Amino acid sequence: MANNWEEIDTYAKVWIKEAGERIRASFPKTLNVHAKSNPNDLVTEIDQQTEQFFIEKIRGNYPDHRILGEEGFGDNIDQDSGVIWIIDPIDGTMNFVHQQRNFAISIGIYENGKGKIGLIYDVVHDELYHVRTGNGVYLNDRKLPALNKAAVPEAILALNATWVVENKRINHELLIPLVQKVRGTRSYGSAALEMVYVATGRIDAYISLRLAPWDYAAGILMVEELGGQATTLRGDKLDIINGSSVFVSKPGLHQEIMRNYLKDGKW
Ligand code: IPD
Ligand code: CA
Ligand code: CA
Repeated sequence: MANNWEEIDTYAKVWIKEAGERIRASFPKTLNVHAKSNPNDLVTEIDQQTEQFFIEKIRGNYPDHRILGEEGFGDNIDQDSGVIWIIDPIDGTMNFVHQQRNFAISIGIYENGKGKIGLIYDVVHDELYHVRTGNGVYLNDRKLPALNKAAVPEAILALNATWVVENKRINHELLIPLVQKVRGTRSYGSAALEMVYVATGRIDAYISLRLAPWDYAAGILMVEELGGQATTLRGDKLDIINGSSVFVSKPGLHQEIMRNYLKDGKW
């Protein structure tokens, strides 16, 4: 039977709002914070409970849909067939723990590898960014305009300082001239928010050398819907099953940065 995308979209929005409400209700409580792959890779019981909340709802309503969730309560997925919900229950956990702001819930829903729905919920500001591909991007009820072209000297670029000092992913000297030429750099600590900031025009581009599908599955749908571009740093299509580098940008700027700073991916 064909999927009823309007219904899926309605449910997903109700669930993400409810999950946000639960996260806000957790603020006065003391968190259990654990480190995962390294001492700075944090997880709390709220990340885990939020993912479990979505999984229960999805399994109850759409038993044939699969789930790729950061905290590992979903399915083991190695190919993109069928409907897949790609969930980051809290993107920006370090901010959540230290600041109780600057984090978001991110959900991308794909069918046979094609993006259908993207939702990013800035829980603290009660701002839901949403897209049903082909139908525009909204911030709550306001439709966002298409993105304008941008050029490097007027651009604000979001990236972590990690990538401009020696690291394992890129010859950092490639990025130094770009950082010197842009108008300014920012680092918000939530890839999902950094992508909606590109979608809303608050910043012009975002670069990361290492992200997972749940960090970008929703955000790239919004940026592309508005005429921006989302690729790896080598200019390749992003994979929704395996992570990679990510370069999200307004139109024009993507080409300029690829050609003049990233040697069209030939580094
Ligand atoms: C992290 C954030 C951060 C990015 C990291 C991600 P998490 O997600 O998006 O901005 O730099 O690479 O892992 O762990 O808070 O969900
Ligand atoms: Ca994340
Ligand atoms: Ca997370």
